[in-house]
Amino acid sequence: MSHLLHIDSSIGTDSVSRQLSAYFAEEWRNSHPGSGYSYRDVVAEPIPHITHPVHQSLVYPDGDHGQSAEERELTAAITDELLGASTVVLGVPMHNFSIPSTFKAWLDRVVHPAHMSMPGKTSPLSGKSVVVIQARGGSYAPGTPREDFDFQEPYLRAVLESIGLGDDLTFVTAELTMAAHVPQMEQLRPLAETSLATAYETLKKLAA
Ligand SMILES: Cc1cc2nc3c(=O)[nH]c(=O)nc-3n(C[C@H](O)[C@H](O)[C@H](O)COP(=O)(O)O)c2cc1C
Repeated sequence: MSHLLHIDSSIGTDSVSRQLSAYFAEEWRNSHPGSGYSYRDVVAEPIPHITHPVHQSLVYPDGDHGQSAEERELTAAITDELLGASTVVLGVPMHNFSIPSTFKAWLDRVVHPAHMSMPGKTSPLSGKSVVVIQARGGSYAPGTPREDFDFQEPYLRAVLESIGLGDDLTFVTAELTMAAHVPQMEQLRPLAETSLATAYETLKKLAA
């Protein structure tokens, strides 16, 4: 059965990535009636930073590494949600040219040897459709002054591909989101609006 896992990681009260991920989820659920749906908000319910016992338990799952039952249950819940999804939508703002630490804490629970995709070995996570919705205040498009500062998309592509989530991986980006609020960026507002409209159009097609 198809199942959507929806994860948000924005701290914003007027979050662009949350609005886009909610739009995708609604469209997807409308076009996949009867399918399953799970939601995780890593800001409302932060995932604790990984510790040595948690990491040892991920790498050597047969041993007793002194991990608390609470930690074990949390990792199991996160893993089951991901394994059970056929489609995953990730709302990920850019923070300091990369990703929010709250989302990194989620990655740290799912990126481990048992999920690694290697030559000759597919991951148990292979075959899923993954949509990453990125929001960023500026622009990192080719030809812009900061085009080399985008450590968000290249990083996410590499880490998701490493665990088999690269088979059907799409990035949808709303850029220049701060143009709406920062007077010095006023002249960039039309570009920001076009970027947002394109993101909605792309998500509609992806959700169909
Ligand atoms: C802690 C923090 C760091 C940020 N760093 C960047 C950055 O490096 N580059 C950028 O373009 N925008 C940066 N921004 C702006 C956000 O990427 C932008 O506001 C985006 O729309 C946030 O996503 P959201 O609208 O879903 O909350 C940062 C925002 C915060 C809160």
